[in-house]
Amino acid sequence: MCGIVGFTGSSPAAPVLLDGLERLEYRGYDSAGIAVVSREKGLQIQKCKGRLRTLRQRLEGIPPLEGTVGIGHTRWATHGEPNDVNSHPHVSQSGRVAIVHNGIIENYVEIKEFLLHKGVRFRSDTDSEVIAQLLDYYFTGSEDVLDAVYHVLARLEGAYALGILCTDEPERLIAARKDAPLLLGYGEGESFIASDATAIIAHTRDVAYMEDGEVAVLTPDGISVFDQYRRPVEKAHHFIQWDVSAAEKGGYAHFMFKEIMEQPEALRQTISPRLRNGEVVLDELDLTDEDLRRFQRIYLVACGSSYHVGMLGKYNLERFLRLPVEVCLASEFRYSAPLVDERSLVVVISQSGETLDSMAALREARSQGGYILSIVNVVGSSIARESDSVLYTWAGPEIAVATTKAYSTQLALLTMLGLYMARKLGRIDPAEYAAVTGELTLLPGKLETVLAGTDTYQYLASRYFNRDCVFFIGRNLDYALGLEGSLKLKEISYIHSESYAAGELKHGTISLIEPGTLVVALATYEPLFDKAVSNIVEVKSRGAEVVALTTESHRERMEKIATHTLTIPDTVTPLLPNLGVAPLQLFAYYIALQRGCDIDKPKNLAKSVTVE
Ligand code: F6R
Repeated sequence: MCGIVGFTGSSPAAPVLLDGLERLEYRGYDSAGIAVVSREKGLQIQKCKGRLRTLRQRLEGIPPLEGTVGIGHTRWATHGEPNDVNSHPHVSQSGRVAIVHNGIIENYVEIKEFLLHKGVRFRSDTDSEVIAQLLDYYFTGSEDVLDAVYHVLARLEGAYALGILCTDEPERLIAARKDAPLLLGYGEGESFIASDATAIIAHTRDVAYMEDGEVAVLTPDGISVFDQYRRPVEKAHHFIQWDVSAAEKGGYAHFMFKEIMEQPEALRQTISPRLRNGEVVLDELDLTDEDLRRFQRIYLVACGSSYHVGMLGKYNLERFLRLPVEVCLASEFRYSAPLVDERSLVVVISQSGETLDSMAALREARSQGGYILSIVNVVGSSIARESDSVLYTWAGPEIAVATTKAYSTQLALLTMLGLYMARKLGRIDPAEYAAVTGELTLLPGKLETVLAGTDTYQYLASRYFNRDCVFFIGRNLDYALGLEGSLKLKEISYIHSESYAAGELKHGTISLIEPGTLVVALATYEPLFDKAVSNIVEVKSRGAEVVALTTESHRERMEKIATHTLTIPDTVTPLLPNLGVAPLQLFAYYIALQRGCDIDKPKNLAKSVTVE
């Protein structure tokens, strides 16, 4: 959730930290702060409630912070309301230690009581402050700060990514990680920590991912890493492939719009390398044909939009494989004593690869003997590293909080996984296999045509932006697609919206339809087109205004029924949602724009949900 950046080098730290925080702001944006340390000035801290621009304004009004070592934080509040005092960095009572923290310290009450008895006075309501105070308590000043860090870590329960400064050793930056993302950046005469690579990509692409239990000591000359027993660790270096422009708006008003428009290219990145001579090739899969034959059941486990990808995947995978597929919310799965065993294939879907519930679900499934295959966007993320096999979506960095291109690429990749397995197991009709793989190559081009005209969505937004409630209805793939359309709309425009399987309307929801109610009816799924039409007629006859989405070949018929008709090019059934999602994203985007919402940073949300 929160974003962390840290720097040690020979240039002033503050500008590097602010630049890094700017790129991390999507992870949390209710407050921000930086701490810089130098031998002459000690710790200098500026932090405040609000966006990073408020912190920048504050810094402009004071003399520059002096020092070439520092830590920064952008917050998504968990413990303690967003205010200046609860913002990070947190400083110990003596002013000797400053920390930034991402995660939750579960036993902070117990530690706080211990320290209160020792006479320590706390300033904030956060769980994080106990780390700074405990570190100061253990650090007597005579030994290495690292001794005290290890002492503290041994007492912490919960999750943390930590950046630590101490006035006694102002040239060093210390970092630690457990169940929260943190990477190390190796520059020329400078070293970095960051929650993700976007924060430091302008300085270095040479990174290493910290593992749970590791502690790193950073100086301008290099980084030493130790495991939980303080044994030195050789880190594998990774080279970040994408460049800095991928994480910038590049002239677009919003990251979300940019990322919607990037979807065709992102799909090419996902699909092209894995489609050779009409065959799906998944070199990354560490599975033999015998392994594939072993699986009796597939679990698709995820949260939010990634879960919606799973909802769609269930239809497609069951169709291709004729195997039972269960779609599970990670937050439920982890506590449900799932019936996973060694005959289970557990597919964890996550853009960030850091979602705590998905991670916990993965570990639960692994403990039951399941094979873990993850579909992840962020290379080197925790979920990717803990999986038996990883399929990367290669969508590039996704900055907007509301996912778009990650969703699309996850969906394409899950479909390809289904095709691959079904082909290997001889379960798919060769004609269908050829038709779907053939259409996969055409998908990016078809999506480009959907994205080519935005006027219609702007018009619809101008007409419907002030609604209080919107219903999405659909059947089969369209039902699962509606879940995503509804989530997109509510999370960025704050309009209440619900998505229903159209066949369920008569079992209750239809009582909410009244003259003027806006219904978005999804009718791309050809086999049930007539049923979709009946549902549209039902809601229209109760006064609803209907924006319908269908395929080009059904345009004429739909235009006679719906209030407005949107279309996508025809394609094979399993790929329809890959085209159908784009109009729903644009619809949500333009409505949020009309309502003046902060599209890239919706209220109460953060990009990467690393708390429960
Ligand atoms: C919605 C959205 C979220 C994420 C969810 C899971 O637009 O982005 O619902 O899909 O938080 O995140 P990942 O995929 O990173 O595990």
